[in-house]
Amino acid sequence: MQDLDFSPEQHKTWAELYRRQVPRVRQHASVHYLSGFDRLELPADRIPTLDELNARITPASGWQVVRTDVRYTDSDEWYRYFDRHEFLITNYMRSWEELDWTPEPDMFHDIFGHLPFWMNRYYAELQEMFAPAYLASASDEEKENIKRLAWYSTEFGMIREDGVMKVFGTGLMSGGEEFMRAAEGKMEYQDFTIENVIGHDKVLYEQHQNLYVIDSIEQLRRELARYFDPILQRAATK
Ligand SMILES: [Fe+2]
Repeated sequence: MQDLDFSPEQHKTWAELYRRQVPRVRQHASVHYLSGFDRLELPADRIPTLDELNARITPASGWQVVRTDVRYTDSDEWYRYFDRHEFLITNYMRSWEELDWTPEPDMFHDIFGHLPFWMNRYYAELQEMFAPAYLASASDEEKENIKRLAWYSTEFGMIREDGVMKVFGTGLMSGGEEFMRAAEGKMEYQDFTIENVIGHDKVLYEQHQNLYVIDSIEQLRRELARYFDPILQRAATK
């Protein structure tokens, strides 16, 4: 799908969200996000075009950003795009009344929350672990667990950097109140391990109370591999 013409209202919502969120991420976001943020150079005053985004992201990570008019893409389809190294962004933008928190991922979340990370090849490699495991899953339970592991790491995780807890998850990065509660230590925090995360109820339509903390991207990769490798090995020997 080619780029759409967004309304002045939608550009204004983007600009206001950008203005509010940049100082917060500068203070509390992971270095993995901020280093990409500086190189992605998102416009402050308008929604960026797909061409602008791909001109920076594809050379950096090999991934491509693709726009969809589906508001909430089904997981099976999402991971088929992921498997082709395509990252879907929605053309839906939250309303002015939902500036501080929206339960539904919108284009500000997809672009501002996710895309700075995709300026790092090593982050793309981390994300590239998910689709093969998801697509090789043998049951809905395994698929659910993989989605849960993504949710509590790349989407809503925290990270320890030089002894300080920083925000890592893309869903927090694009949120106002929830970002600040996470950053200021106002949630319950547990180490990110397979055992801690699986079995915990995923929160979808309200703000989180429990978050999981990784030590590093390398630690997260090792932890995910503990769950993913047996699935991949089983599929390979079939
Ligand atoms: Fe997301």
